[in-house]
Amino acid sequence: MEINLNDKNCIVHLEMGNANMELFLKYEKELKKALEGNERRYCHSISVALTAVNLAENYDADKDNCLVAGILHDYCKNMTLDELFSNCEKYKVNLTEEDRMADGCIHGFLAAKMCKELYDINDEVYNAIYFHTCGKPNMTILEKIIYIADFIEPLRRFRDKVSDIRKLAYKDIDSAIVAASEASISFLTKREKFIHSNTIKTLEYYKDVVSKR
Ligand SMILES: [Fe+2]
Ligand SMILES: [Fe+2]
Repeated sequence: MEINLNDKNCIVHLEMGNANMELFLKYEKELKKALEGNERRYCHSISVALTAVNLAENYDADKDNCLVAGILHDYCKNMTLDELFSNCEKYKVNLTEEDRMADGCIHGFLAAKMCKELYDINDEVYNAIYFHTCGKPNMTILEKIIYIADFIEPLRRFRDKVSDIRKLAYKDIDSAIVAASEASISFLTKREKFIHSNTIKTLEYYKDVVSKR
């Protein structure tokens, strides 16, 4: 089966490949409700999920976990900052001072917690959603796949070096993480945004992994 995503001016055809249709339809329906009115973010999420399934086939990872984490990773992306903070209180997400300053990461922390409560996602999927924005040292293959799929999915067009990182992701995911976290840091620096220490630790850790081979 093929899915067509119409993201404003561009239509992207994605192969469903071996993705689990039952799981896809179950969570896609929930995502549609959560992201109502935000077609662009909905398309991005589905595109991340199918990219993650392709990467799972490449790295022999769990396809169902990749599919679910990909669909749900931006579940809270429609919320304003005030809504994010109030839902973090409601769902008992403990935010450090640094988490509050790196406000682009909060939607991932909250999405993991809400999806755990609402859909009882497993711990592997929870962590992949939780860490999808900043990454962390020593990620599982599922966490790495969601981090990179979010960066390289085919609707992403304007990020620095995305086409190089897209090719690298299938050959050497650790090097792709180095390149993606460097690009994220440079993107945030240019916009004078606060950078979470986990983003910097991710870059340092995977630079070290790659250099020690
Ligand atoms: Fe996100
Ligand atoms: Fe995303």
